[in-house]
Parts: sequence; structure tokens; C-alpha cells
Amino acid sequence: MQTKKIEVCCGSKCISRNSEEIFDYLQEEYKETDVAVHMCSCLGRCKKGPNILVTDEKEDEKVYHYSKNRTIKERIENNEGMPYTRYDTEDKLDLGSDFLGDL
Ligand code: FES
Repeated sequence: MQTKKIEVCCGSKCISRNSEEIFDYLQEEYKETDVAVHMCSCLGRCKKGPNILVTDEKEDEKVYHYSKNRTIKERIENNEGMPYTRYDTEDKLDLGSDFLGDL
């Protein structure tokens, strides 16, 4: 998989679960590459966080529910994430406890 961009959630739930540490780890791991590593706002998957969103060269987005630093890079490079859908249409709008729990 050609990875284009990695975004690490910095919403309050993910921050409380050390997403900053994950961000630092991934930034270091990809510093000599053309992969951009950024922080992002809440991805709406708070209960499963910390979460990481990866966008590949085809603009496909996959979300990774973090496990350990030593495996997250391998999981990203093996394209093991779950397809990610943004809450941009009414039928996909899910304001369940995941999202509200972050407010
Ligand atoms: S705070 Fe990270 S997904 Fe909501």
C-alpha cells in the first residue's frame, strides 16, 4: 500500500489514551519518507481509540484502532485498517455514545 497521509486523533478521548505518544512514534518512523503524519480532530470512534486515520494514494481511508507502537506501523503497511466513512450524510449520521461521550 502506498500511504499518503496518516492522521492521529487528538480529540480528548484519544489524547487521554496517549495519542500524542503514538503521533510522536509515527512521526519518527516516517520522517525519512514522503508520508505526512498529522494530528486531527475527533474521528467519531472514541470508544475504540486512540484512533488513526490513513489515507492512501487512491484516497481510500482506513481507520486503525491503536494497539501498540510496535505493531501499528506494520498494521498500516499491511493495510489492515477498517474502511472509514465520514458522517457526511443523514443515513450515516450516528450520534451514538461514541461521539457524545467525547463532548
Ligand atoms: S476523540 Fe478520537 S475518535 Fe473521538
